[in-house]
Amino acid sequence: MFEQIFTPNPDAEKPTPIRPRKGVIIGVGQVGMACAYSILIQNCFDELILQDINQEKVQGEVMDLRHGMPFLSPTELKGGTVADEGKDADMVIITAGAAQKPGETRLELVGRNVNIFKGILGDVVKYCPNAILLIVTNPVDILTYVTLKITQFPSARVLGSGTVLDTARFRSLIGHKLGIDSRSVHAYIMGEHGDSEFPVWSSAHIGGTKIVSGEWNDLSNSEKEELNNIFNQVKNAAYDIIKLKGYTSYAIGLGVTDIVKAILQSHERILTISTLISGLYGINDVCLSLPTVVNEKGALKSVNLSLNDLEKEQLLNSAQVLKDIFKQLDL
Ligand code: LAC
Repeated sequence: MFEQIFTPNPDAEKPTPIRPRKGVIIGVGQVGMACAYSILIQNCFDELILQDINQEKVQGEVMDLRHGMPFLSPTELKGGTVADEGKDADMVIITAGAAQKPGETRLELVGRNVNIFKGILGDVVKYCPNAILLIVTNPVDILTYVTLKITQFPSARVLGSGTVLDTARFRSLIGHKLGIDSRSVHAYIMGEHGDSEFPVWSSAHIGGTKIVSGEWNDLSNSEKEELNNIFNQVKNAAYDIIKLKGYTSYAIGLGVTDIVKAILQSHERILTISTLISGLYGINDVCLSLPTVVNEKGALKSVNLSLNDLEKEQLLNSAQVLKDIFKQLDL
């Protein structure tokens, strides 16, 4: 039927098969689909597989997105699983799990989502043994650690989205307040992606100029209140958005895509992803977010960011909060 459309060039050589970059997204809920949409429009993978227990939802999402392909650079998008279409994927992004309800903390999701992960990870290990795993499901630091323990993959290849989104919120709010492009704000949120996270004001700067020039304790009460107000908007952002629209999605989708691009394009980017901490700041055997260099091998190295006494105390507190939760798990 279609042969008459083309006249083959007799000298044309067959294309040399290049290894397609393949990604799998497990979970096609609001977050999973925001990740999928952002990844597609930023043309990250050659093949993208959507996996979920809800097969009808997968089929509908694939159909809908495929119809948009003429507007994009091509990605081969399919429904499937890590055991079939997703076999030997370069990256497996896990967003599957229960999401926060209004007022619910991320840590309250731990029991339900650990069980879901126990059901997912066996096939990931069996069929994608060399993949970099990117955990997005909350509580993301706990589930990153759980994934590490269950899969026994090298820690460099088991990352969590961590406080990448919180750091973006922090930069966005500071940029908005000062009327400058948030990409020119250099400031980090570290620790748990959750209620024990904290802002690193001591090194936050814009154009090389520190936002907080002196010591925290030398600030006036009104200055501290102004800075705390910005941070509290970051820390409470998910609760506020969930109260208004029922879930968060677009920003986490964009943040996950930023991590995916840093890995696939091996940019040696510094991102506050959640990884296993082994000794830095005296912290061991917990996953949380520090500024980390990310490339095609995953989490390459952490930045030895100098913290003031208050920030060190907040980091140790965040590590303890996560360790206490992990101790309660039956793995
Ligand atoms: C949020 C979710 C991704 O912070 O935890 O929006």
